Amino acid sequence: DTEYSLRPKTLSEYIGQEKVKENLSIYIEAAKARGDSLDHVLLYGPPGLGKTTLSAIIANEMNVNLRVTSGPAIEKPGDLAAILTGLNANDVLFIDEIHRLSRSVEEVLYPAMEDFAIDIVIGKGPSARSIRIDLPHFTLIGATTRAGQLTSPLRDRFGVLFRLELYSPKELAEIITRSASILEIPCEYDGAFELAKRSRGTPRIANRLLKRVRDFAQVLGDGAITKEIVSVALSKLEIDELGLDLVDRRMLRMIIQNYKGGPVGLETLAAALGEEAVTLEDVYEPYLMQLGFLARTPRGRCATPLAYAHLGILEEGQQLSF
Ligand code: ADE
Repeated sequence: DTEYSLRPKTLSEYIGQEKVKENLSIYIEAAKARGDSLDHVLLYGPPGLGKTTLSAIIANEMNVNLRVTSGPAIEKPGDLAAILTGLNANDVLFIDEIHRLSRSVEEVLYPAMEDFAIDIVIGKGPSARSIRIDLPHFTLIGATTRAGQLTSPLRDRFGVLFRLELYSPKELAEIITRSASILEIPCEYDGAFELAKRSRGTPRIANRLLKRVRDFAQVLGDGAITKEIVSVALSKLEIDELGLDLVDRRMLRMIIQNYKGGPVGLETLAAALGEEAVTLEDVYEPYLMQLGFLARTPRGRCATPLAYAHLGILEEGQQLSF
């Protein structure tokens, strides 16, 4: 499927996150030279920035197998024990949304990460005893939207911590150009760059919008991605010049019009918008904060003068000047 084929398979094909790539390539080369597993890696940052892609690249570069699962999918300690005992030496185990592991499952992970062993309790009551099973050396890659959501015993067991950043328009334009070439969509650089500026710093959004813009290009144009076609398509999708969608704009307008620009608490804001607080925090806020439209204060969220200006709303006390 195309979603999969758009993912780069090597570090050299992976665009952006330069600091991560630079250090990661050293750790991979050193671990391979020692014939050992790569130390456990924690990837954190907003959704859609390539955490799953990066873990597949790590497994590929280490020449080992990748096993993919997620926090909510591992229900019981036995589920995790089954996964761990099925790994081969130096394999990569990727756990997405690792902050959602239950406490009892997390406790199986501690000795697995630290000593490459699991302790299994046999029997019940006074005759219960625990036996230790050795595991092959492996690399746990945990992914989460915020490192602060992890318990500290879990966070402390990762040797490598990488924070993924939102991509620049230039990096996203490169990703879009690469994806268009794989999908055999003719794409002008101005078109790619316009789409890049409106993709919220996120490759997953850029690639999704590329496919929607292709539809408009085929039906309304000659099939090529141009700046004009991108503008037409994104205005139909109600995505503005900076990539803000309806939820972003409702959120800013709510803060400005119902809470006098803030501060307003996140939970209050989420309830007023009918959205989950974690969705606002993980999905919407990072880009609004990067644009300088939203400020987090100890007393809640505030819209900034830049947000007023972008939405064309006058701040209180501001005069129309002619
Ligand atoms: N597709 C999605 N993310 C990418 C990245 N960082 N580099 C290249 N292609 C990508």
